[in-house]
Amino acid sequence: MPITTCVFDAYGTLFDVAAAAREAASEPGREEFKKVWPKVANDWRLKQLQYSWLRAVAGAHTNFWEVTQNGLDWALEASGLTDPALRERLLALYWELSAYPEVPLMLSTLKANGMNTAILSNGSPAMLEGAVKSAGVGDVLDDLLSVESVGVFKPHSSVYDLVGQRFGTDPREVLFVSSNGWDAAAAAGYGFQTVWVNRAGEPVDRLPWVPDSRLPDLTTIPQLAASL
Ligand code: LAC
Repeated sequence: MPITTCVFDAYGTLFDVAAAAREAASEPGREEFKKVWPKVANDWRLKQLQYSWLRAVAGAHTNFWEVTQNGLDWALEASGLTDPALRERLLALYWELSAYPEVPLMLSTLKANGMNTAILSNGSPAMLEGAVKSAGVGDVLDDLLSVESVGVFKPHSSVYDLVGQRFGTDPREVLFVSSNGWDAAAAAGYGFQTVWVNRAGEPVDRLPWVPDSRLPDLTTIPQLAASL
């Protein structure tokens, strides 16, 4: 079935989640943080995601901003960092993450080809609006779909249902793109056509479903979408 609708995960897929820690580390007076920022960024992301999955299975939903703060607090403590100003700075930077360099042209090409485009993310509506605004890609996205409207995090199937509810699509006409292997895999299980953007060259997640395609970045998404 030809693709009519391209849907993107936000954090790690369109927006560089390591950018907040990288940028804070480059600021004056952050000598201690400069030594450990890659571990903090990695722990932050991992804990944020673990907390989202645990809250989903436990039926204890909260918004993504809360689990983002909880993940950062764990990561800072694990690296022995206690500076409240650093915490505030990292959280502020999370609202203005940079998009990966290929994102604006990739999205505008999809729109020029007549595709529907959207974000489908754990992020709260305000977080997604902040990221899209600071990346300047609001006019090439038709919608920002947030899990907040269903009150459970990915990979619950009611999150993936939001795409059909918004665009009236059959799952097979949707190309779902995520840099999170588990998200791409679960979306493949749901019935979307899927791309795993594997920027870091990670092994494939051992789950019952496998993403249909793997790409090193987002550059060729328009060609792929047109060829399916
Ligand atoms: C999101 C996270 C999972 O944007 O990256 O939904």
